[in-house]
Amino acid sequence: MRIGVFGAAGATGKEVVRRILSTPGLVLSGGTGRPKSADIGKDIAAAAGLKPIGLPILADPAAVFAISDVVIDFALSSATIQHLKLAAKAKVPIVLGVTGFKAAHRTAIAQAAKKTAVVEAPNTAYAVNLAMVYIERVARVLAGDFDIEIVTVGDRKLPFAPSGTALQLVDAAARGLGVKRDNALVKVRDGDIGVRKPTAIGLHNIRGGIRPGNSQRGIFFGDSEVIEIAGITSSPGVYADGAVIAAQWVKGKRPGHYGMREVFDLG
Ligand SMILES: NC(=O)c1ccc[n+]([C@@H]2O[C@H](COP(=O)([O-])OP(=O)(O)OC[C@H]3O[C@@H](n4cnc5c(N)ncnc54)[C@H](OP(=O)(O)O)[C@@H]3O)[C@@H](O)[C@H]2O)c1
Repeated sequence: MRIGVFGAAGATGKEVVRRILSTPGLVLSGGTGRPKSADIGKDIAAAAGLKPIGLPILADPAAVFAISDVVIDFALSSATIQHLKLAAKAKVPIVLGVTGFKAAHRTAIAQAAKKTAVVEAPNTAYAVNLAMVYIERVARVLAGDFDIEIVTVGDRKLPFAPSGTALQLVDAAARGLGVKRDNALVKVRDGDIGVRKPTAIGLHNIRGGIRPGNSQRGIFFGDSEVIEIAGITSSPGVYADGAVIAAQWVKGKRPGHYGMREVFDLG
């Protein structure tokens, strides 16, 4: 199976390159970097700290789609819409590890998903995806008797908030509570905030350090007891592991919009 990697010289892209090259049965078909960046033309394996394999990092994503069965995207969100259009044209499935999507990205995902399989995966770590499932279940069981706060820790480089993962956690809690995200989400508390509503979902976006050490936590506060459900990653390699699993899973899937919950078969 041939896998291409967008953002191949980035922190996560390099992990993905290493995973593909060390997994029997997988072939690294190619990869891209930011057009005009110094990474273009570098050997893709050498850029990831491995022995050169004679495969240069390309500037043209269409060229990588042409030689890939699936592409994993860990470039930046400024390139995602173009990548989705090309995926649809080439009818090659794409795993979107990249995050930071706005409304235009949502539209592009929906359009591309009519023509090819798109896995939207703002967090590819198994523990985090499993934590989301349990946050939803616990929210459903406690149904408003406990106050839910979501606390996410991202590294200092993450240039926006909330992260896609943070919103996924909020959505999981909201589904469990049976409320809509927009009616429940409390992003800022400052000044005369009034009494907390039972269906509020507070969100806290902590930033600091570098990966590893990201954590995604749902905290349920009762009157005299607390439940915490956390997905914590301690190595950046887990993101690459999840992305490669998603690439293997999505090969041959019908056009559609998928998520890591389906990839990991979490029900
Ligand atoms: N899904 C997950 O679990 C997960 C995990 C980790 C990260 N992420 C997300 O993945 C993305 C990358 O994160 P990172 O930490 O690896 O960032 P990074 O180290 O900055 O890597 C991004 C790479 O993409 C390159 N790039 C920029 N524009 C491009 C384009 N048009 N085509 C191809 N490559 C392009 C960048 O090149 P330059 O440096 O030259 O601009 C850089 O090498 C972010 O959105 C991040 O939030 C998701």
